[in-house]
Amino acid sequence: GPKPLVIAIDGPAASGKSSTAQWVAQLLNVHHVDSGAFYRAITLLALGTGVAPELWTSQAVLAEAHRITWRLTERSVLPLVDGAEHDEAMRDAPVTRQVSRVAQMAAVRHWVNDQVRAAGAATDVVVDGRDIGTAVFPTAALKVFLVADPWERARRRLIQRLGRRPNDAEIAEETEALVARDALDAAQSAPARDAITIDTTTVTQEEQVERIVALAKATRDRIRGH
Ligand code: CDP
Ligand code: CDP
Repeated sequence: GPKPLVIAIDGPAASGKSSTAQWVAQLLNVHHVDSGAFYRAITLLALGTGVAPELWTSQAVLAEAHRITWRLTERSVLPLVDGAEHDEAMRDAPVTRQVSRVAQMAAVRHWVNDQVRAAGAATDVVVDGRDIGTAVFPTAALKVFLVADPWERARRRLIQRLGRRPNDAEIAEETEALVARDALDAAQSAPARDAITIDTTTVTQEEQVERIVALAKATRDRIRGH
């Protein structure tokens, strides 16, 4: 068949990458790959070693990597730990606090990139993550870079986490944590030169999804020659 289609969605924390990618993938009927989930899975295993995070080495972290596999479900590429889903533990605060540390390790990035590229070679994908359009799939057919004001990103993240409208003090605290993680992740968070930037601060998720789907369909028609 034709070479798999890769659509890359990058952007900072809580810019809407993974929920948007998931929705876009569904509308295009292709698989969604959440690259951050691989960083979270390996971080979960590193926490399980009991070694203090300050003492983690890429070698020790990668010694756990053989326990992570992935499965192609109907809709997505799912990382499994010891053959099972660990979605809740992967989204928990202990993993979120340490994941950037693990994501700084070049050897870990190399390993995650290999997993994600293998998935993208197997099937048409919408992939989201910090560096997907730059380091992982520099030749992706379409690259989208989502941005939004830190305050708005913090507000969205809290609604997601708390299931209610946060107050200003809560948003202020979350904004601080987000900005700190942005700084830690800065090295792998620049947009690709050929990325299309979408500021979602005042855009509904539905609107941004529609826009990306339209871009993706035009891209698919162009490269598949329809
Ligand atoms: O949703 P959010 O952007 O906060 O996080 P995520 O996509 O679940 O990714 C968690 C962490 O993994 C990020 O904070 C980055 O440190 C790292 N990551 C990365 O470095 N490169 C990627 N392609 C994906 C995630
Ligand atoms: O993956 P990333 O951390 O970039 O963000 P996410 O977890 O996909 O999105 C954070 C939250 O923002 C989700 O609950 C989205 O539904 C919401 N949201 C959005 O992504 N875009 C908007 N225009 C409005 C809300």
